[in-house]
Amino acid sequence: MNSCKSIYDHQEDSTMLEKWVRKYAKGKVLDVGTGSGIQAIAAAQNAKVKSVLATDVQKDVIDYCNANIKNHKIKFVHSDLFQKVRGKFDTVIFNPPYLPQELKLKDLTIEGGKKGYEVIEKFLNDANNFLAKDGIILMVFSSLTNKEKVEGFIRNNLLDFEELEKAHIFFEDIHIYLLKKNELLKRLELKDVSNVKYLTKGHRGFLFTGNYRNKKIAVKIKNPKSTAFGRIENEAKWLEKLNKCKIGPKVCFHEDGYFACDYSDGSLIVDYLEKSGKAKIKKILKKIFDQAYKLDKSKIDKEEMHHPVKHIIVSGSNPVFLDFERAHYSQSPKNVTQFCQFLIGKKIIELLRGKGMKIDKGNMISLAKIYKNEQTRKNLKKIMDAI
Ligand SMILES: C[S@@+](CC[C@H](N)C(=O)[O-])C[C@H]1O[C@@H](n2cnc3c(N)ncnc32)[C@H](O)[C@@H]1O
Repeated sequence: MNSCKSIYDHQEDSTMLEKWVRKYAKGKVLDVGTGSGIQAIAAAQNAKVKSVLATDVQKDVIDYCNANIKNHKIKFVHSDLFQKVRGKFDTVIFNPPYLPQELKLKDLTIEGGKKGYEVIEKFLNDANNFLAKDGIILMVFSSLTNKEKVEGFIRNNLLDFEELEKAHIFFEDIHIYLLKKNELLKRLELKDVSNVKYLTKGHRGFLFTGNYRNKKIAVKIKNPKSTAFGRIENEAKWLEKLNKCKIGPKVCFHEDGYFACDYSDGSLIVDYLEKSGKAKIKKILKKIFDQAYKLDKSKIDKEEMHHPVKHIIVSGSNPVFLDFERAHYSQSPKNVTQFCQFLIGKKIIELLRGKGMKIDKGNMISLAKIYKNEQTRKNLKKIMDAI
């Protein structure tokens, strides 16, 4: 047998994982970071396994495997994670490099990046695209990798996990995890949403992006830690109503616990004001007041319009109002007056002054009061003219 210095000699993590591979591997298998090929061989020996694609980022490792492992079920391919991988797999195996780089060994077989979890994070961010609907991922990592971080990446990618085994070996704990797509991800994929990725989280919701009918969409689900009741459903209901008057991102579909809408790509309102000139700013502010007025006339209070920093995105040349979780009917909605309040706040009034727009604070307060008493287009125009 030829030797290869880049090969990771079987350690306890390899043999622990191998045991579970023998038990659970099925169908089409992908072994990422195959090294000596230990997991690929174990999988191929399982009668339930049809084929194994085994990859490694190190070319000499793949050359070594091709020269020394002859098994009709296994194909070896040189690939950085999923780069050269196509198709969906019933079983994905990964014994990643998971140690932090503090030792500066520059060893791809064991170091997973500065913190140790970077390769795992990259792997998990793409794994769903290569995992069949009822597929499983068998993965190993160590207590030196930062378990909370790894579990966070798993959850953010809409995967459920189960710890199959934990063993204390020398100075670390080795964890073997089995991951599966969670119910929400399966529901989204049934609706033909692909490439679902975590974007951000707020107090009440988690936001994901995905591809749907050739466009990028946003999917909002309830933050499991939020105690607020029915907020996601409330938002979907309001958005559907408001879409009819061209307000808010267009809802694609919604089900219990989540909704999907068009993804609004653009700049948050304050960033937009900072980078744009006077003429553009005036146009956008007028469009925002127009939408706020439509809401007022429909007796809908959006809430939080006095601090819309994260709730208005300028996409192309249009403002898109986001976050209708707290929207409700009101006899005296305050969308326009709250937005006036935002414009005369210290930071914004100074920012606009820097652009040659002098808003007279006292005058704006008087005009907002007049509008509050009589919510008419005429009174709205007076506010717009004062900008
Ligand atoms: C800890 S060893 C595991 C080897 C073998 N699967 C086992 O269980 O013993 C990690 C392997 O992942 C490979 N690797 C590291 N980064 C990779 C990446 N980005 N894509 C694919 N393989 C990678 C390394 O070359 C190494 O062979």
